[in-house]
Amino acid sequence: NFTVKRIGCIGAGYVGGPTMSMIAKYCPHIDVYIFDLNQTRINAWNSDNLPIYEPGLDEIVQERRGKNLFFTTDYTEAVIKSDVVFLSVNTPTKHYGLGKGRQADLKFIELCARQIRDSVKTGHKIIVEKSTVPIKTAMAVSRILKTSSDSQATFDILSNPEFLAEGTAVKDLENPDRVLIGGENPAAIKILADVYANWVKREQIIQTNLWSSELSKLVANCFLAQRISSINAVSAICEATGANVNEVAHAVGMDKRIGSRFLQASVGFGGSCFQKDILNLTYLAEHYHLKEVADYFYGVISMNDWQKQRFAQKVVHKLFNTVSSKKLSVLGFAFKKDTGDTRESSSIFICSKLVEERAYLNIYDPKVSELQIMDDIMRVMNDAYDGDFSAHLDTTPESEMVRRCVKVIKDPYECVKDTHAVLIMTEWDEFKTYDWKKMYDSMKKPAFLFDGRNILDHSKLEEIGFDVYSIGVAEKNPAQW
Ligand code: NAI
Repeated sequence: NFTVKRIGCIGAGYVGGPTMSMIAKYCPHIDVYIFDLNQTRINAWNSDNLPIYEPGLDEIVQERRGKNLFFTTDYTEAVIKSDVVFLSVNTPTKHYGLGKGRQADLKFIELCARQIRDSVKTGHKIIVEKSTVPIKTAMAVSRILKTSSDSQATFDILSNPEFLAEGTAVKDLENPDRVLIGGENPAAIKILADVYANWVKREQIIQTNLWSSELSKLVANCFLAQRISSINAVSAICEATGANVNEVAHAVGMDKRIGSRFLQASVGFGGSCFQKDILNLTYLAEHYHLKEVADYFYGVISMNDWQKQRFAQKVVHKLFNTVSSKKLSVLGFAFKKDTGDTRESSSIFICSKLVEERAYLNIYDPKVSELQIMDDIMRVMNDAYDGDFSAHLDTTPESEMVRRCVKVIKDPYECVKDTHAVLIMTEWDEFKTYDWKKMYDSMKKPAFLFDGRNILDHSKLEEIGFDVYSIGVAEKNPAQW
């Protein structure tokens, strides 16, 4: 007779915020508390200016906040008093020591487990791994929780990975393809399944053992990223042969076994998850002496890196082999449309390469702040990581160069004015609605346009006068400038 009256979540990020808001929306009988160490983030969640942008999220938070949805830094309210506690903290790629650049850094997850063990002394709690973790993480969490000498508390550990995509988080959570729950105790699984059943059909709530659940999340991301790298590999063949990647993707995708989604050629995937989770899986494979498996999946990342590199090189090449002192406009900095998230965005890599080539950049993105854009480019150029001491970045020659060469501009027409080329880096819908004739007239000639997302009407742009380069379409006069 364990009833869920209160759910807590540790980590008020891109996953914790939207998932808990959805539970609050569909479970008015449950109080939902989201805890984070970061006071600024919690303040933002409690303000009119939420810390993340997701279509439809504002409305849900407005509706439930203060009723059964609470954002807090009060650990007791959110964790100690809750019946079910989700762990939704970040699990980035480790950037130091053993496994550097490959392994998932589980220090935040482990910290959560230790803190729960040290603070919860009575009763029963269900601990839910929401973060994406390597296989067997649940075992580590379980071992830590069991090592208290003065506690009567008991725990069930469940794995419940999140499959939402940024930019469509609300839609994905409202109507998920599936909810996956892995665990050892059927009673605990049922309790969590009952929460989701308030809005998700029972047949879509699937159960597996813990390890299948943890692994499924990594595999899902590998497969998704693999499709992007596959079509991007094809895009290079198209450019070399005269085939058109959009036509090939359409023809191939109409095969029901293959399907049409995730076959959009582009400048390469970004986001906080794909690369991290592939690295995580390949590291695991190597740990189990499965080198061929690791190499196979690692190819997905190599292809993505190459695609980004290829795009930057093409820009330089087409601009008569030098961008030094030329002004280029970059439209889009987020890693995809409808989000302000820039983590691992291809735009960061391309911009840093072009700054290295001494180009001046005007950058516009509808949702990303100037501070974020400058910080991202500086970090890449300084080989620094999130969490590294920021003050140090202020004084390096690389940062000086970024400050000198990069301008963030709030108006797209101002951004493009007087530049030699436009680079489309994110597939924002608004880019399709611009007056491209007006843009063209304000640019230096010849005016180049590199469509890294293949979203614009290229024949129309060519009619206007642009020199257009897109992904996976052969150039009309490849031998000439
Ligand atoms: P995030 O970085 O946006 O949020 C994590 C939050 O956890 C931060 O606000 C941080 O301050 C907080 N935190 C870290 N340690 C803490 C502690 N000990 N106590 C309290 N708060 C703590 O990360 P995001 O994007 O929400 O990802 C979380 C997990 O979900 C990761 O494992 C990620 O791989 C996974 N995931 C992410 C998806 C995405 O689209 N972003 C989709 C599916 C899964």
